[in-house]
Amino acid sequence: MKVSVRVPASTANLGPGFDCLAMALPIYNTITIEETVLPGSGVDINVISEDDAIDQMSIEHLSLNENSLIYKAVELLYNSIGQNPSELKITIHTNIPIASGLGSSASVVVGGLIAANELLGRPADEAALLSIAAEVEGHPDNITAAIVGGLVISSLEDDCTVVYRKLEWPNEWNITVCIPDYELATDISRSVLPKDIPICDAVFNAKRMAMFVQAIHTKDANLMKLALQDRLHQPYRIKLVPGLERIVEALKHEENVLGCVLSGAGPSILIISQKNNLDRIHSIVRDTWSGLNVKSIIKTLGVESLGAQVISNED
Ligand code: HSE
Repeated sequence: MKVSVRVPASTANLGPGFDCLAMALPIYNTITIEETVLPGSGVDINVISEDDAIDQMSIEHLSLNENSLIYKAVELLYNSIGQNPSELKITIHTNIPIASGLGSSASVVVGGLIAANELLGRPADEAALLSIAAEVEGHPDNITAAIVGGLVISSLEDDCTVVYRKLEWPNEWNITVCIPDYELATDISRSVLPKDIPICDAVFNAKRMAMFVQAIHTKDANLMKLALQDRLHQPYRIKLVPGLERIVEALKHEENVLGCVLSGAGPSILIISQKNNLDRIHSIVRDTWSGLNVKSIIKTLGVESLGAQVISNED
């Protein structure tokens, strides 16, 4: 049996929603799991890049063995029904840039889990898949967007369940993803975060999250400009992302820009804007990065409303 699953990229945090807000984006990885016939052949994991911008070195950084997140996720699923994974060939066709803050690792975990769940006759429901994926990733934001699609607010509860709700993104607000040609591993980007934060910063973000939800519901651009600010992670990570500070500063003066935030753990940047000043936004970002010898890919995309999809299931 051979199952392929297509999983979207995602952008997490969206400013104030550290570890709880994320939005699925129309860039996809495809994960295929095939049962092999050779007994004792173990689990073989291969990655094939479908995008020239993803170089071989990035792929080699992925651990393709039993320490990989996809293996851990598949193993947890098998263990949940008293089995161990073996004789499996996993192939990851990757279009989502690796270590770029676009949920590449979450997409691989989710794709592996859903494909393995199909192979096993679907023992896990959506809630069980969310719990396993959040346990493996450590936070629920990217994996929830990758599984259910759209803009989602999610929480990994103490009993390991993931509670989520979808929010409706206003179509008139543009989403521009700016991907520099350097990588930033999530564990490094998380290592610079403090263990404790001042209460004033916690209050600042609590207010921004409430504003974010209300701004989305009422399509209130002025409120969204305030809402897209953060004091929990971005100030600590800014030094890991050359160019971010300059880009934020340059875009402050653009009246149609509602905000410029780090995408997930970075280094990609997400710009929310309205109306048609996209060429100008693209050139500000491209020129700022090229002044630092950083090449970039800049795309204005819609929200992917669907989550992971099984695209083939062959006996
Ligand atoms: N919320 C996560 C972070 C997303 O900011 O570290 C990255 O996986």
